[in-house]
Amino acid sequence: MNDLSDAPQRTADGEEVRADFVPVAAYISRDHAEREKERLWPRVWQVACREEEIPNAGDFVTYDIADDSIAVVRQQSGDIAAFYNVCPHRGRRLTEGCGKMGRFHCKYHGWKWSLDGAPVDVVDRDNWGTSLPDEDIALGAVRVGTWGGWVFVCMDSEAESLEEFLEPAAAQLAPFEFEKMRYVWRKSIVMPCNWKVALEAFDEGYHVQTTHRQLLPYMDDLTYSEARGKHGMFGYAPTTLFGLPSPRLGEQKGDVRKGLYLFNKEIWDTLQATSTLEMLAAAKRLEAEVPEDADPFTVYGAFAQFHREEAAKNGRPFPDVPVETLMSTGTDWHIFPNLVFLHQPTNMLWYRARPNGDDPSSCIFEINVIERFAEGAEPDVGVEHGADWAEVDWGLILAQDFQNMGEVQKGMKSRGFKGARTNPVQERAISNFHQTLHHYLADKN
Ligand code: FES
Ligand SMILES: [Fe+2]
Repeated sequence: MNDLSDAPQRTADGEEVRADFVPVAAYISRDHAEREKERLWPRVWQVACREEEIPNAGDFVTYDIADDSIAVVRQQSGDIAAFYNVCPHRGRRLTEGCGKMGRFHCKYHGWKWSLDGAPVDVVDRDNWGTSLPDEDIALGAVRVGTWGGWVFVCMDSEAESLEEFLEPAAAQLAPFEFEKMRYVWRKSIVMPCNWKVALEAFDEGYHVQTTHRQLLPYMDDLTYSEARGKHGMFGYAPTTLFGLPSPRLGEQKGDVRKGLYLFNKEIWDTLQATSTLEMLAAAKRLEAEVPEDADPFTVYGAFAQFHREEAAKNGRPFPDVPVETLMSTGTDWHIFPNLVFLHQPTNMLWYRARPNGDDPSSCIFEINVIERFAEGAEPDVGVEHGADWAEVDWGLILAQDFQNMGEVQKGMKSRGFKGARTNPVQERAISNFHQTLHHYLADKN
C-alpha cells in the first residue's frame, strides 16, 4: 500500500476527503460495506484472538470476518498457523467457534489434514488417480503474526509485514508489555449500529462532558487526539489536573488527593475496568501519606508509586514504563482497522468490532478486560454472549456509551444528515481512521 499522503482527494462517491468531515455513506451505505468486504478486510492485519486462547497444540479459534472465515491453530512446534476455514473438496467450513483438535476433519466426506494444513486422509483417493496432488488440497495458509499478546491475521500475501503495519504504535507502546496481560472478562454482543460507530464511541474523550457527566467533579476532561500512522490515539495534556473538577464546572479547586480517590472509586464502581482495586487502594493512601498542601504533580507521583507498591503486595508484576512513554501514549488507541483499547500499566479495556453479515447497521462488538497477574493466578475466562446489550449488566459507563450507538445509527439514516463533523482537536483519531480507510477502499493496487 502506498504512503497515506498519496490518498486520493475524493471518495468513491465523488465526495471530497476532509479531515473534519466524514460522509455518511461510510456508516449506512451497503455499497460502502461491500467495498470494505472487497478492499479492506482482505488486505489488513486484524486481531483474530489472543495467544492465551490457544495455549496448546491443537487449540484453535475460528475468526469470521465478512464472508471469510479463518482457523487459527497452535502447531505441535508451538508456533501459530492460520488457514482459510474451507474444505478444498466441495467447500464445507471445517471449524466453528473454538476448541481443540488432533487434526482438521471435514464433516461432509471425511477428509483430514494435519495441524499444519497438509492432507493426511482423502476417502477413496484412488478414485482421482493421479489428479489430486497434495498441493492442490492443502489448506490455504493465511499470514499470522503476534503483537501485544494478540494474534493477527492477514489474507493479503502482498501486504506489508505486521511490524510495519503496526508502526509507530508497536514501538511506542512496547514498554507496557501487553503480551503479559491475561483475560479478566470477555463479552460479545450484537450492536444495532455500523462497526465504525461502535468503535468511534471509544475513539475520543470529547463525549465525556455529556455522556459521562458524573465524572466531571473529579476530572479535567479536555483531551487532545492525534494520528499515529494508520492508527490514532487520544490523551490528556501533561498539565491536566486529574482529581480536580473539570474547568467546565467552574474554578478548578479542591483536594487532589480526595479527587483522585473519588475518581478511581467511581470508575471502579461503574466500569470495573481501567481502574483496579489496587489503584483504588493507592488513591486511598494519598490523604494519609501526602501533605494536604502538596503540589498536584507531587500527588500524581505518589499515586504512581503507591500503585506500584499495592501491586507488589499482591505479587502483581508491574512494567517499567518510562514517564515520557506514559505521557506520550495517552489514554486510548485505535489500531486500524478495528481494535480500540484503553491502557494502564497493569490492565487494559479493549474492544473489537466487525460487520454482522451484510447489514451496515449491525455489528458484532466485543468488550474485553485484560490484566497482569501473578504467575499462576490467571483466571480461566470464557466469553459471554448477549443477544441484546440492554439485557446485560455493563455498569453505568458502558451502558451510557451503548445508549448512543443505536441512536447514532438511526440518526445517520436521516435525510437531514450528510456526514460526521469530527472535532479537529479532540476527534482527530476518528478523521484519521476514515482517511486510512478511504485509502484502502480507493487504492487500485
Ligand atoms: S466437502 Fe469436505 S470432504 Fe467433502
Ligand atoms: Fe464513553
